Amino acid sequence: MRIAVGSDHRGYSVRNHIIELLTQLGHEVIDVGTDSAESVDYTDIAAKAAKEVGSGKAEMGVLVCGTGLGMSIAANKFPGVRAAPCHDALTAEMSRRHNNLNMLCLSADLLGEKLIDRMVELWINTPFDGDRHTRRVERISEIEKEIFSHRNKIE
Ligand code: RB5
Repeated sequence: MRIAVGSDHRGYSVRNHIIELLTQLGHEVIDVGTDSAESVDYTDIAAKAAKEVGSGKAEMGVLVCGTGLGMSIAANKFPGVRAAPCHDALTAEMSRRHNNLNMLCLSADLLGEKLIDRMVELWINTPFDGDRHTRRVERISEIEKEIFSHRNKIE
């Protein structure tokens, strides 16, 4: 799979570790930065990764910041993106099974390395359950389209 990975300065070392893990697991990583521990706005990194996922260039994305919150707020502004912060194995698994999450947002400040490894692997390998959840996820896309067409009318 092609997976976009990004972080701000707070998630920098975790992100490097995730890139190593995903590469070892045989995935192709699209690295959108940041390239050092120097302070950077999470918004811009989230946007770069979300464009990859929203456009279909990447099938999934993983974002890391201090809490995982800012990354998810910014990434969700992009059409086709379903991003959320997950904080344990259960939320990582359920975000795939029920929400078909395509961008996993992680907290570098709260999660340990072993838990992150477990969550990322579980998240990547858990399929969407489909069934009644398809209707709900499709409804999210419809709402997104309604909002975008409304915005275009205003502009
Ligand atoms: C950066 O200080 C911090 O705000 C960021 O990493 C993240 O936690 C935002 O949600």
